[in-house]
Amino acid sequence: MNNLKNLGVRLLPPILLDALRQMRPAEFVKSDKIVASDEYINWLCTVVGGWLTPRHGNIRAFEHAIRNLPPQGAIIEIGSFLGLSTNIIAYLMAKYTKHNPFFICDPWIFEETDKKIGGYFDAGSPAFSNYAQTVFKLNCQTFSQNHYPFAIKALSDDFFAQWKVTANLNDVFDRTASLGGAIAFAYIDGAHTYEATQKDFANVDQWIVPGGFILFDDSADGCGYESSIVAKEIMQNSRYRLVFKTPHYFFQRLR
Ligand SMILES: C[S@@+](CC[C@H](N)C(=O)[O-])C[C@H]1O[C@@H](n2cnc3c(N)ncnc32)[C@H](O)[C@@H]1O
Repeated sequence: MNNLKNLGVRLLPPILLDALRQMRPAEFVKSDKIVASDEYINWLCTVVGGWLTPRHGNIRAFEHAIRNLPPQGAIIEIGSFLGLSTNIIAYLMAKYTKHNPFFICDPWIFEETDKKIGGYFDAGSPAFSNYAQTVFKLNCQTFSQNHYPFAIKALSDDFFAQWKVTANLNDVFDRTASLGGAIAFAYIDGAHTYEATQKDFANVDQWIVPGGFILFDDSADGCGYESSIVAKEIMQNSRYRLVFKTPHYFFQRLR
């Protein structure tokens, strides 16, 4: 049976074989099995608003990063919106008993939404900004119990400026967050322009430990976001290896 399968594989055109290997490396397949049978993650994706579906590859990258998390360094999420990815990360930290500090930053300001959605809803309004921040807080307090992150209302660049000077800041839950130090995993899902993604990478790169992970949302080849240009540049950087594509680029720092 195995011989037949191997023969089948050998008969595939090399270009197709390469494409298949690229799509499903062993590390992805392992995380995929774990996540697909995880009742809580699947349930969260149906009850919390956001873009992640139970089959989304980014959740496989979260699972891999947190199961293999370096012991030193924080988890940083840039851009949380209503907290779906935040709660999945917090849950995986609890599942794998990881006690690394966890921070997110988001300004919850959607002013760049210049056109009404469907010609009807103004997502750039203060009311929507207030809604998103309130729902984020409720989602964290409801679905992550004591594991939710320090949440700083800020653009990522300002967040990292405070990180550099090890600032103590009040977070949206009215707790004191002590910023600074090493980073073990960064999920970059804020502004997706070239300039913003490049700055986010440069900031994370300063603090990420060898063995640490970075996932760039909306960086898939041909997805139309400029994040993919930054991801392709990192492919040329010998200090990083591609772990897998979710289809978005998921890297590990080597040294
Ligand atoms: C796609 S949503 C995040 C979705 C969330 N990660 C999830 O998967 O559930 C993008 C978020 O990034 C935030 N954002 C936009 N620009 C940002 C920046 N420069 N720094 C931090 N957050 C930013 C937006 O306010 C928005 O809430």
